[in-house]
Amino acid sequence: MEFEPFSYMRHAKRLEYTAGIYMAGSGMPPAKVEDAGFTDDDYALKTLCASYGDPRNVDFIASRYKTSGNNVVLTQGSSEGYFLAFGALLEPGDKVIIETPGYQQFNSLTTFFGCRPVPLKRRFENKWNPDLKEFKRLLDDKTKIVVLTDLHNPTMSKMPPDLLKDMIAAAAKNGTTVIVGEVYKDHLKPGDNDESCFEYGDNVIATSSLTKVYGLSAIRFGWALAPERIAGRMLDVMDMVDPEMPAICQNLAWKALHNLPRMRAIARGIHERHWPIVEEWLKQRDDIEYLKPAGGITVWIHADGLKDTGNLVQVMRNEFGVLVVPGEYFQAPGWFRVGYKNPPGELRDGLSRIGRAIDDYRKTHKSQKIKPGK
Ligand SMILES: Cc1ncc(COP(=O)(O)O)c(C=O)c1O
Repeated sequence: MEFEPFSYMRHAKRLEYTAGIYMAGSGMPPAKVEDAGFTDDDYALKTLCASYGDPRNVDFIASRYKTSGNNVVLTQGSSEGYFLAFGALLEPGDKVIIETPGYQQFNSLTTFFGCRPVPLKRRFENKWNPDLKEFKRLLDDKTKIVVLTDLHNPTMSKMPPDLLKDMIAAAAKNGTTVIVGEVYKDHLKPGDNDESCFEYGDNVIATSSLTKVYGLSAIRFGWALAPERIAGRMLDVMDMVDPEMPAICQNLAWKALHNLPRMRAIARGIHERHWPIVEEWLKQRDDIEYLKPAGGITVWIHADGLKDTGNLVQVMRNEFGVLVVPGEYFQAPGWFRVGYKNPPGELRDGLSRIGRAIDDYRKTHKSQKIKPGK
């Protein structure tokens, strides 16, 4: 089967072993054991039930989102949630509307299942929101899935709830399921429009995990909230790839779930303390476009005159010792994503290196065509 490889993932995995100031990641630094509440007995190879995950975790997620356990599919990260949902819903030849700029996994999965990706633009001028009319025009009888993220990766913009509700309603009329990746949503302040959009319609699948906000990527604990008819089908797909869920991860997740408020406050604190440092740097320059992220630890920026960023990012890495993600991986050459979870001194140093690299690159590579780095 021909499919678009998830080249960003390959790039990201390799980058972690590269020297330099790492400003490429979108996840929080690993959580501290005491913040997550882990104890030695969590590392037992047994859990209450490993097959579809610990039922206590199912119940916890169900009650967190005020839904039934029948709507909860525990997954190994939201990445697996997307895979199960696509596998459950698609037939070869279907259309999948995918936000762009966006997370490349959606294009890879669409092509992997023999389907056609259709881009839905999110534009800077529109605060990175999709246009409702444009969206409605893209819907047709082949459209099985629409995929969005909220908060949006790479821009960390928050979609207005009314717009999302309208899109979900339009998709429902068309018989289309809307999958919304909510893995960054808990970067919002509690109560600040941070509810899951699962409640916006019975054609919604919302995915999330403990990876990004909670710094627990290592335990690969995620979940999908899905209408019962689809949740069952997702388990059919899961049976082909997961004989069981890792018991230790389920045990650790059970503890971590009870400490979400504490860990969430740590993530929000980093955003609130570090964003002013980034903004100060951005304001000193008159050549950079950006929209203030609603939360999180990354900002999406564009420097005047740069149409491609792949080579620039390589220059940043090789000559200036700083690692960021080129927009090419999000279908947006000319832009790049900069992380700001680093300690303040390192963050200031990293930003200054990025600035010097941009200035230097402009001088020397004016009209060169460039491609993403390997
Ligand atoms: C939108 C989005 N969803 C999911 C993931 C991966 O999340 P997880 O670790 O929960 O699989 C990422 C990672 O960058 C992402 O950007």
